[in-house]
Amino acid sequence: MQPSAPSNAAERLESRLLAWFEQAGRKDLPWQIDPTPYRVWVSEIMLQQTQVSTVIPYYQRFMQRFPAAQNLATAPLDAVLHLWTGLGYYARARNLHRAAHLICAQHHGALPHEIDQLMQLPGIGRSTAGAILALAHNAPHAILDGNVRRVLARFHAVEGWPGAAAVEKKLWALAESHLPATRLRDYTQALMDLGATVCTRSRPACTHCPLSPDCLAHAQQRVRDYPTPKPRTTQPVRTTTLVILRNSAGAVLLMQRPPAGIWGGLWSPPECTHRTAPTIQRWCQQALGFETGQCERLPVLRHTFSHFHLDILPVLLDVTQPHTAVMEATPVIWYNINQPDARGLAAPVKRLLLELAQHYPARNTHDTNGQLRKTGTRSRRPQTATVSG
Ligand code: ADE
Repeated sequence: MQPSAPSNAAERLESRLLAWFEQAGRKDLPWQIDPTPYRVWVSEIMLQQTQVSTVIPYYQRFMQRFPAAQNLATAPLDAVLHLWTGLGYYARARNLHRAAHLICAQHHGALPHEIDQLMQLPGIGRSTAGAILALAHNAPHAILDGNVRRVLARFHAVEGWPGAAAVEKKLWALAESHLPATRLRDYTQALMDLGATVCTRSRPACTHCPLSPDCLAHAQQRVRDYPTPKPRTTQPVRTTTLVILRNSAGAVLLMQRPPAGIWGGLWSPPECTHRTAPTIQRWCQQALGFETGQCERLPVLRHTFSHFHLDILPVLLDVTQPHTAVMEATPVIWYNINQPDARGLAAPVKRLLLELAQHYPARNTHDTNGQLRKTGTRSRRPQTATVSG
């Protein structure tokens, strides 16, 4: 499909943007220093759905630990997930790890230069592949992340929700039509920076925007109407019970979750569908092989995913009779909540274990020598809590 923009406006967008980049663009972000394909790739994955300021410390730790694809490919997934803990959207970390394996096995440890080959790697879509090629190789490839969609939808007053296939196709055609003949790296960075800092979703700074003289949304005084929002549907709420089993040393049983599904590969307390104390206790006995004491409800945690809310109902049970060997198939550990180790935990699980350590100390715990140790009384936290991301 041919874009509908007048060609002179199209020319002006890229030259104005490049001039603006000289004085206002970001030039010293960690991934802009030595922008190898590997370094750009990792940054682009981390920056999906996550702000630059949040990403920077994660990126620096990640690069220190995994300076090249080979280091990433040979590391255990758990080490990768550990460095990702708190960034959210863990499928990104699992895909990075899988892709690093493929890069080493199929491409001699270097990211391919061909866009089609890049897009075959897990987690790399068309926009990420374009960004890697433009930012690392200065090559003529378009990008269309959320920021760029917004800039183009406003500049050309594109109607319709960009998630709709026809609208997306139109925006891609416009993105391609603006590619300058040279300076692809600066142009691509400028487009992202303009979207992130000037043409923002809720507070666009049109008086500072180099594109406003030609921006159709600005001319119509309808900047905030673009891009058209997604048609509204209410997000469903799912509920799950997380069973916090505590042993006589005060450690908590964690299981490694299967690779697919939410928090795949991360560690969490076992999850069950039961809601009442007797059914949960029976489940602990039958499914896990533990006899337990009373079942105590902890405050509900709401975790918001992109498509649904998850209400986590944590229950706390002390083990009275250890394991009768029914759960041999799943990797399990007893996790010392007072001395957390390097292991991937989903954000709400990490928070839950912190709360547990702070507000629900074990009543009578044995230390590592088996001596009975008395602990203080409980200090309750508020009855509900919400986490997201
Ligand atoms: N968002 C996505 N990619 C980015 C980049 N290279 N710099 C800043 N923000 C970004």
